[in-house]
Amino acid sequence: MTARIVVIANQKGGVGKTTTSINFAASLAILEHMVLLVDLDPQGHSTTGLGFEKPNDQAGAYALLTGTPAEALVLNTEIATLQIIPAGKDLARLEFSDLTDESQLYNLKNALNQIKENYDYIVIDSPPALGTMTLNAFTAADELIVPMPCEFLAMDGLVELVDTLNAVQKQSNPSLQLGGILLTMAEERTNLGSAVANEVRKSFPGKVFKTSIPRNIRLAEAPSHGKPIAFYDLKSKGAQAYIYFTKEWLRRKKNEFTKDTI
Ligand SMILES: Nc1ncnc2c1ncn2[C@@H]1O[C@H](COP(=O)(O)OP(=O)(O)OP(=O)(O)O)[C@@H](O)[C@H]1O
Ligand SMILES: [Mg+2]
Repeated sequence: MTARIVVIANQKGGVGKTTTSINFAASLAILEHMVLLVDLDPQGHSTTGLGFEKPNDQAGAYALLTGTPAEALVLNTEIATLQIIPAGKDLARLEFSDLTDESQLYNLKNALNQIKENYDYIVIDSPPALGTMTLNAFTAADELIVPMPCEFLAMDGLVELVDTLNAVQKQSNPSLQLGGILLTMAEERTNLGSAVANEVRKSFPGKVFKTSIPRNIRLAEAPSHGKPIAFYDLKSKGAQAYIYFTKEWLRRKKNEFTKDTI
């Protein structure tokens, strides 16, 4: 077993990265895959959203990126097949504005190489920036998933994100793929919501997941209870949507795999 590594990224703030990271990771785990969620955002929202305290610099992603063995940093969650490496604000100390020092890009990849074999999937939550953390995640990952809210100016900034993806493919990770765009906070019944969804689907044919995540208050409430949505309110539209999305993603992987091996 060697994990497929998926980074959830969009440099815009508040688009649903953390909500997607937690609930995609939890849904994969509920579907009986062995999953590690890596919180790579100094805000630590994936950490607190799963009910953990933000760690000090010896106990989370900061320690991971500065040489502590990954195995020592992994925490168990209430789902037996889901583990997390948490993050706190110390992580911000590792953001270098000057990325001419290319060696800084490989810290996460090297750290995860030690434990890749223990998981089916590793999901990385990233901060709202295209800095050191996001570049480390892009360098380590097999695949990028971009959450995008069905809102005015949703696609703003996407050019920079795709440029960054292309630059990483050239420089530090030729095998990084755009797995897809996940429409979040969808209100497709409103004119604006469906217009945005249509525009994104037209701009990225075949790259937008069929499942979109509706705006759902239960998704916003769950983090303050320290639980993924499936454990907070399994019947909610938000919980169902994340499970459907995860099944759609797994189906796509299976199809890609069959195509590759025929
Ligand atoms: N589908 C949804 N329905 C309702 N509220 C949502 C939904 N998705 C996310 N939210 C809420 O919107 C806010 C922003 O979401 P989230 O934290 O997932 O975004 P983010 O991209 O990780 O933000 P940041 O850029 O700050 O890391 C949070 O309060 C979250 O609970
Ligand atoms: Mg976040």
